[in-house]
Amino acid sequence: MSKSDIIIIGAGPGGYRAAELAAKQGLSVTVFEKERVGGTCLNVGCIPTKCLARNAELLLSLSDAAAFGVENLSYAFNFQTTIQRKDQVVDSLRQGVETILSHPSVSVVRAHAAFKDEHTVIADGNEYEADHIIIATGSSSKTLPIDIAEGCEVLDSSDLLSLGQLPKSICIIGAGVIGMEFASIFNAFGVEVTVVEFLKECLPVLDSDIAKRLRKMLEKRGITFHLQCAVSGISKDGVAFVNKKGKTECVQAEKVLMAVGRKPNTEGLGLDAIDVSLERGAVPVDASSFRVVGSAGSPLGSVYAIGDANGLQMLAHAAEMQAAHVVNQLLGKADDIRLDIMPAAIFTTPEAACVGLSEDECKNRGIDYACRKSFWRANGKAMAMGESDGMLKLLTGSDGLILGCHAFGAHAADIIQEVSSLMCRRTTVCQLADMVHIHPTLSEILKTAAEG
Ligand code: NAI
Repeated sequence: MSKSDIIIIGAGPGGYRAAELAAKQGLSVTVFEKERVGGTCLNVGCIPTKCLARNAELLLSLSDAAAFGVENLSYAFNFQTTIQRKDQVVDSLRQGVETILSHPSVSVVRAHAAFKDEHTVIADGNEYEADHIIIATGSSSKTLPIDIAEGCEVLDSSDLLSLGQLPKSICIIGAGVIGMEFASIFNAFGVEVTVVEFLKECLPVLDSDIAKRLRKMLEKRGITFHLQCAVSGISKDGVAFVNKKGKTECVQAEKVLMAVGRKPNTEGLGLDAIDVSLERGAVPVDASSFRVVGSAGSPLGSVYAIGDANGLQMLAHAAEMQAAHVVNQLLGKADDIRLDIMPAAIFTTPEAACVGLSEDECKNRGIDYACRKSFWRANGKAMAMGESDGMLKLLTGSDGLILGCHAFGAHAADIIQEVSSLMCRRTTVCQLADMVHIHPTLSEILKTAAEG
């Protein structure tokens, strides 16, 4: 039997980061991966979609070139080249992950691992033992429990990233992060896009005011939204949904994308062997240590679950930081990681991003808050860039501490990252207003909001 300090199941951002950090600190690690290393983020998630989002941005800039005095442009969009470029970027980054995992203290077993007990997993009939086991198995797309007629193809985000050719039209079910990113991308690619969303507004993670403005912008670009509509079935006639008046309508489209959330990957993991039952489809953990909680209700001594597998914060950077936190615990090292301050971005064109509370949440929780707004159109750099659409809301408490910030507009994610760092350091809005920001930059949008 092979023995190591740590076993990690899954080589996505959570798993490979945990392996890297542990190996650098002298621990021996065995990583199990049944598919390609890099996980969803690298292979079929964040990275490939950002490649396509870059294409979308480029095409939208070209369509606006005349406003910058660049006239009579003639160009053709080659979708196959776009996909090839995306594959090259992904392959090159995957090589980087392989290099990380080639550390002498890391062994990679290319097989599916299942628990035998709290210290042992079985893969390809062999047993592997470790002092600690980290579950980092990620997630996969959810499907709605609706009637899908035989012969009707419904794609998930992974399928969409490997299309051979562009469809003429697409119906996207779900206006969450994945739905909105693909809606923006495929609209820029010239595809007729219709989005059907169950809720009143797109992007439930965002401040509703910001989400609404972003949606209106995308509507102006030609995307059709059906909000407060529940999809009931998919047949040769199209995607059927019940609208807010209770009437059934239908969207016809060449392709259908289902983007209604993701579910943790736990199938075949053998959780029964360690007496763990799923909670809401995820591996239950203690939220501060990420120790897996057993059926008896107490955390196990040696098994952890990080990233999408525990369903807490389904973001690649959350997985990476949870990995760092677990490795620190194993090494007995205290850290300053603030997993309660979790920025997130949506890579539509323009971007949207957020950290902390939205104004809606402040209201719902009865918090005494102030909301300071600022706009891209009042910022010199944004105007010079021709990026005048955008709004930022900075929420502060009665003590001046930042409660949250939500924004859409060019490079919103970079601005939100600054807020996130300030929140980690408990900076007040007055201290922020006193910080010098380079002129002219988009970062001044934040300073302007802080100045109130
Ligand atoms: P999501 O949870 O963000 O959105 C799913 C949407 O589908 C919701 O708005 C929901 O109301 C809607 N929906 C559910 N049932 C429906 C029905 N019957 N009819 C119409 N609409 C329905 O899930 P999504 O977009 O699939 O993303 C999955 C996860 O991946 C999220 O946790 C997200 O944070 C993460 N992700 C993060 C990215 C980023 O950070 N940029 C990029 C892509 C994904």
